[in-house]
Amino acid sequence: MTEAFKIDRIDVEGSFPEGGIIEIWTINRTDKLNALNYDVNEAIKSACIAAEKNENVRVVIIRGEAPPIPSNDEKRPKPPAFVAGADISEFTGVGSTQIRKIFADNVWEAIWNLSIPTIASIDGFALGGGSEIALSCDIRIATTRSSFGTPEINLGLIPGGGGTQRLARLLGYGKALEMVMGGEIIPANEAYRIGLVNRLCEPDDLQSMTMGLAMNLASKSPHTIKVAKKAVRASLELPISEGIKFEHEEFCSLFDTDDKEIGVNAFLNREKPEWKGH
Ligand code: COA
Repeated sequence: MTEAFKIDRIDVEGSFPEGGIIEIWTINRTDKLNALNYDVNEAIKSACIAAEKNENVRVVIIRGEAPPIPSNDEKRPKPPAFVAGADISEFTGVGSTQIRKIFADNVWEAIWNLSIPTIASIDGFALGGGSEIALSCDIRIATTRSSFGTPEINLGLIPGGGGTQRLARLLGYGKALEMVMGGEIIPANEAYRIGLVNRLCEPDDLQSMTMGLAMNLASKSPHTIKVAKKAVRASLELPISEGIKFEHEEFCSLFDTDDKEIGVNAFLNREKPEWKGH
């Protein structure tokens, strides 16, 4: 049986500090358009805990496995999908007490709370809980044939993986309401236009564009990039005057790090910085 979730590790050549890796997390349930079932959710949560503990992990990429090449007798080959949502078959007959338990410790917050940079590399459907996985990542790269939506309304539900909140903050209140109440599936070019997707590319270019971005992030000081993520995240929680103070404190604290001295001197000496990570 193929694994429903797997992790590949790519070495970051010449990383500083040495030993940097990029983790690629692949959800592989192509027969169900990579829908998130219990096992996949548990595997992702474990991967989050392990990645956070592993100081070598510089970037996490999340992707959905591509469907297998269809055999000649297959009438309806499966379409490509990032993740087509939570596995709807796990919702039947479930009441609030049970679902509350499952959602208390959920995969979307686990990804969101990673201090490491995260990239959603999207080819195909990113719907419901799948669009929320993408929203829990820091950066979204999508192919032109991808599509996005929160169709939970059609199931008598609303998004439960942070979609109502993260969409409103990313796109604004009006667009979020339109998506959540209408449940429509929007194409990638529209998702790009409204800022749901950071970068758009052709399917053949997705891997190289994703890896290019990941390698760029992996080339930064692993300490400074976490501070950068934390500071921008603070803007979601704080009024602007408090946020500015927060940024100021973080900026000043970086002046006590080795990596600030390394970065500044490398610039002045026209050298590549050899970060220490602190
Ligand atoms: N949960 C469980 N199974 C799902 C799924 C999900 N979220 N999304 C797709 N699947 C399954 C289908 O049941 C089907 O399984 P089967 O071949 O065993 O019958 C298989 O994946 C392929 O999907 P299918 O609907 O036949 O493909 P399609 O190309 O006709 O339509 C979608 C694609 C994405 C439009 C359609 O599958 C869909 O609407 N999925 C649900 C999206 C959703 O509501 N997500 C939010 C959930 S919270």
